[in-house]
Parts: sequence; C-alpha cells; structure tokens
Amino acid sequence: MAILVTGGAGFIGSNYIINFLEDTQETVINLDLLTYAGNPENLSSIEDSKNYQFFHGDIGDRNLVNKILKTYEPRAIINFAAESHVDRSIHEPSGFIQTNIVGTFNLLECTREYFSHLRENGRPKFRFLHVSTDEVFGSASPSGPAFNEKTRYKPNSPYSASKASSDFLVRAYNRTYELPTIITNCSNNYGPYQFPEKFIPLTILRAIKGEEIPIYGDGQQIRDWLYVTDHCDALNRVLKNGLPGDVYNIGGLNQITNLQLAEDICEILDEIRPSNQSYKSQINFTKDRPGHDRRYAIDCDKINKELGWMPYESFESGIRKTVIWYLENQEWTDNIIGGAYREWIKKNYS
Ligand code: NAD
Ligand code: TYD
Repeated sequence: MAILVTGGAGFIGSNYIINFLEDTQETVINLDLLTYAGNPENLSSIEDSKNYQFFHGDIGDRNLVNKILKTYEPRAIINFAAESHVDRSIHEPSGFIQTNIVGTFNLLECTREYFSHLRENGRPKFRFLHVSTDEVFGSASPSGPAFNEKTRYKPNSPYSASKASSDFLVRAYNRTYELPTIITNCSNNYGPYQFPEKFIPLTILRAIKGEEIPIYGDGQQIRDWLYVTDHCDALNRVLKNGLPGDVYNIGGLNQITNLQLAEDICEILDEIRPSNQSYKSQINFTKDRPGHDRRYAIDCDKINKELGWMPYESFESGIRKTVIWYLENQEWTDNIIGGAYREWIKKNYS
C-alpha cells in the first residue's frame, strides 16, 4: 500500500508526511519540484525511513507522474503542490498559473489514465484529495457569515484565482470522468516549517533580529488560523471517510486581526526572550497589499458533523509552540535566509 503526496517538501506537506509515517507502515511517495519553498531538510527526521521515497520533479511532468503511478500503484494522491504565496502571485503570477492550474490539470490527466486501468478491487478505495484554500471564496464581510461549502467562489488574487481554477478542474474530473476526487478548502495554517515569507514566521524572525515587523494597511484584516497538525488530521479523516465528489471546509475557529496576532507574538517573545524594550515597538504599518482580502472565516460544521473533526490545538498553545519552535530551530531558518530570500524581502517591502 502506498500514497502519493505532491509538494511534500513544503510547509503543510512535510508536516503531513511526518505525521502520517508515525502511524503507519504504508509507503509515502513524495513528488516535489523543490522550488524555493520546498526544503528537504523539513523531512530529515524521516528521510531514511524504509517506507519513504522522494522524487524530485514536477506534477506537470506526465512521464514522471505516469512512471510513479505505475510503479507504486498508490491508493491515494494528496495534492499539496502549489505556488502558495499571495504576495509573490501579485509580483509574478505566471508560476501560479503553471503549477496550480496547468500542473494540476496534468496530474489529473495522469490520474484519470491510472484510475481507468486500476484493478477492480483498487478502484472503490482510490481517492484524489486536492488540498485547497479558503481564499477561493474571496473576502468575507467584517461581521458576515463564515464561508461554508456552498459559498460562491470570488477569488481576488492571482494565487486564489489559480487555486479556484484548479478546484474547478478537480470537480470537473469527478463529474465528467467519475474520478473519486475530494476537495478541501482550509483556512490559514501556522506551525513548524512554514517558509518565513508568510506572516507568522516572518513576524517572529524579524522581531528577534530587531527588524521592523511589517503590517499591511491598518492591520485590521482577519484570518482564521489553524495549527498545521490539525489540518493534517482533518485531511486524514477526509481521506478515510470523506465522500468522493464532495468538498469539506476546514478552519481554525480562531479569527484574529493581523495586528492583534503580531502583538500576541511580541508578548510571547517579551516573556520568553526579553529585550530592552517590547518587541511591539518594532511594529510598522506599511503600504497595503493590492486586492487585500479583509476577512477569511470558515464554517467547519460539515466536517465536524460528518467526520467528527474539530481543531485540537488552542490558538494560545499553538502560537506559543510555534514561537518556541522558530527560536529553537534558527539553523533551519538561517539555511533558508540566503540571497534569494533577501532579494524577495527587498522587492516586496521596498
Ligand atoms: P508551500 O509553498 O510551503 O509548499 C509548496 C510545495 O510544493 C513546495 O515543497 C514546492 O517545492 C512544491 N511545488 C511547487 N510547485 C511544484 C510543482 N510544479 N511540482 C511539484 N512540487 C511543486 O505551501 P504550503 O503552505 O505547504 O501549502 C500546501 C498546499 O496547501 C497548497 O496547495 C496551498 O494552496 C494549500 N493551502 C495552504 C494554506 C496555508 O496557510 N499555507 C492554507 C490552505 C491551503
Ligand atoms: P500570509 O501569511 O501571506 O497569508 P495569506 O495572505 O494567504 O492570508 O498573510 C497573512 C495576513 O498577514 C494577510 O492578511 C496579509 C498580512 N501580512 C502583513 O500584514 N504583513 C506581511 O509582511 C505579510 C507577509 C502578511
């Protein structure tokens, strides 16, 4: 038995693989292009495991994907591979179109072919799980309802538009070809191994380096933060008991403004790594992100009622654990913060 994980060297994918291998003898095949966001170091704890196989390559490379599917006959594919950073999608959208849309299309085509030749007894169990985002729903109004599975798609960034497109393709492959696909739309994740271009690790690292903590616009935008291992648990439940053709929203039940979040991180740092003055003094309001969504909020009633899932980690404990992880793993970040990263920071914040 095997599962194919794509994008498994990234933030969520690597957490998923590490957690998955704790509880199983099943083989995990990881197909990852190792873009700037893919880091094999995330998987150093399991890289020698006999049931882990890594392939360096593109989800859009049909020859490679066909070869992997034929060799390992996975019972499931979990598609994490994507370009995932909104700000980068604003500066350079083409990679997002290529991987998130064209790449997913190629992966679906290979999966369709594979599924059509799958042995009779393998078919009912096979799943293609597409890991998507709540950003496809666009911006929720400040006190309006949270996104549920029936909320209309209204993506506002090249990133969310490319994810929305991939979701539609995945849906179409279920309706048209009866491929047993499932889509999950999850809110913002946080935790270990998140690339420090994203808000939480960026805030922690800039704070401890004595640099400005950039808050876009007025900082009153709201995100619904979910600890990454809770996302992994939700995906496992969906994989096990989710219905083919269905969609599940996954959220943290934890809506907080960006400014409040930055202040919370600063308070934790003030307590565990005190400096001359509060880290809050480094908070700096900067030019807003174009098309910045004001609020994301997830209604996760369906996955709760149907699959018994709830976030386990409280935000207070999750964010504290995360801050501590980044303090204790500075070598991991030092290895990332090279020339290309510095170029990105210059480009985005100058
Ligand atoms: P990430 O950017 O940390 O990792 C993406 C991974 O995909 C990297 O390892 C990268 O090398 C790999 N990759 C990129 N292009 C590829 C290609 N063409 N072929 C093979 N591999 C490729 O992203 P993440 O935060 O771990 O997100 C994973 C998935 O979850 C994405 O699909 C994202 O849209 C979705 N998601 C993320 C969040 C979040 O808060 N991070 C929330 C909801 C959904
Ligand atoms: P981010 O982690 O990029 O996730 P997403 O855009 O997918 O929600 O950003 C989270 C929030 O933090 C978002 O509202 C943008 C904001 N933000 C800042 O205020 N400053 C920053 O430097 C970054 C990277 C994000």
